[in-house]
Amino acid sequence: MPPTLPDTLDQTTAWLALCRARESVASTAASVHREGPLRLTASGWTSDIPANDDARELLDNLVPLAMHPGRLALAQLGQSLDGRIATESGHSHYINGFESRTHLHRLRALVDAVVIGAGTASEDDPLLTVRHVSGRQPVRVILDPRGRVPSTIRLLREAQAPCLHLVGEQVDIAQPSAEHVTRVQLPTATDGFDTANVLEALADRGLRRVLIEGGGITVSRFLEAGVLDRLHLLVAPLLIGSGRPGLAMTPIATLDQARRPVARTFRCGDDTLFDLDLTRP
Ligand SMILES: NC(=O)c1ccc[n+]([C@@H]2O[C@H](COP(=O)([O-])OP(=O)(O)OC[C@H]3O[C@@H](n4cnc5c(N)ncnc54)[C@H](OP(=O)(O)O)[C@@H]3O)[C@@H](O)[C@H]2O)c1
Repeated sequence: MPPTLPDTLDQTTAWLALCRARESVASTAASVHREGPLRLTASGWTSDIPANDDARELLDNLVPLAMHPGRLALAQLGQSLDGRIATESGHSHYINGFESRTHLHRLRALVDAVVIGAGTASEDDPLLTVRHVSGRQPVRVILDPRGRVPSTIRLLREAQAPCLHLVGEQVDIAQPSAEHVTRVQLPTATDGFDTANVLEALADRGLRRVLIEGGGITVSRFLEAGVLDRLHLLVAPLLIGSGRPGLAMTPIATLDQARRPVARTFRCGDDTLFDLDLTRP
C-alpha cells in the first residue's frame, strides 16, 4: 500500500521541505525539488494536498530564496514606519515583533553566511545564530576594515558557528584569535571594501548564498553597488522620529531616478515584509 498523505500541509512540514530544497539546490544545482506532496521550483510551488494558511504564506515567501540557483546576495533591514533601524544611541531591540525575528532566523538558515558591519558587531554584540527555528548555522562575517571591533564581542569568543573577520590590509592579523575565527585581509579603497570583492572572497570560501543583515550603512553600500539580488524590508508600525537611518544612499535629484523594484508583501505579525526583487530592471 502506498503511504497515506496527511490531510493538509502545515508550516513545520513546509519549513523542513524548504531547508532540504535549499541543500539540494546548493549541492546538485537541482531546479526542481520534490518532497512528499510538494513540488518546488524557483518560480513557485504546488502541493497534492491543501496547504494551511501559514504553510502557504511561508512557501510563497521563501521558495524563491530556497530555490534560487547559483549565488545569492540578499539583504534585510528591520525598520520603523519612518525608516529608522535604531534610536540615536543605537538601541534597536526590538523594532520588529516576534514573527519578523523568526523570519530573520529563517533567512539565516537558508544562507551560507551572514554579514554585518563593524557598527552592528560592536554596538549590538549579536550572535547571528539560528535559534527561533530548526536549521543549519551560517558562517558569521564581520566587515571591519579598520580592525576596530573589540575582541571581547561574542562573535569572536563564542564558537556556535565559524566566524570570518574581514579586515583591511593595514590591520595586524598576527594576534591570536579563537579557533572558530578566521581573520582575512581585503584591500580597501576610500569608502572601504569593494562589496563585489567581499562577495567574491566569500564565494571563494564556498559561501555562495549570503545574507547582509545590517546595519544601515552596510546594507546601503551593497545596494548602491548593485550587487544585491533581493532586499527584505520588515516595516514595523512604530514611529521613532529620530535615530539611525535604514537606507542612506547618494542623493538623487528627481523621482524618475528612484528605483522601483518589483515588490511582494507579506504579513509578519503586526509588521509588513516588503520582498524586493532587485534582479529585474
Ligand atoms: N533593525 C535592523 O534590522 C538592524 C540590523 C542591524 C543593525 N541595526 C542597528 O544598526 C546600528 C548600526 O548600524 P550602522 O548603519 O550604524 O553601522 P553598520 O552598518 O553596522 O556598520 C557600518 C560599518 O561597518 C563597516 N563596513 C560596512 N560596509 C563596509 C564596506 N563595504 N567596506 C568596509 N567597511 C564596511 C564600516 O566600518 P568602519 O566605520 O570601521 O569603517 C562601517 O562604518 C546599531 O544601532 C544596530 O543596533 C539594526
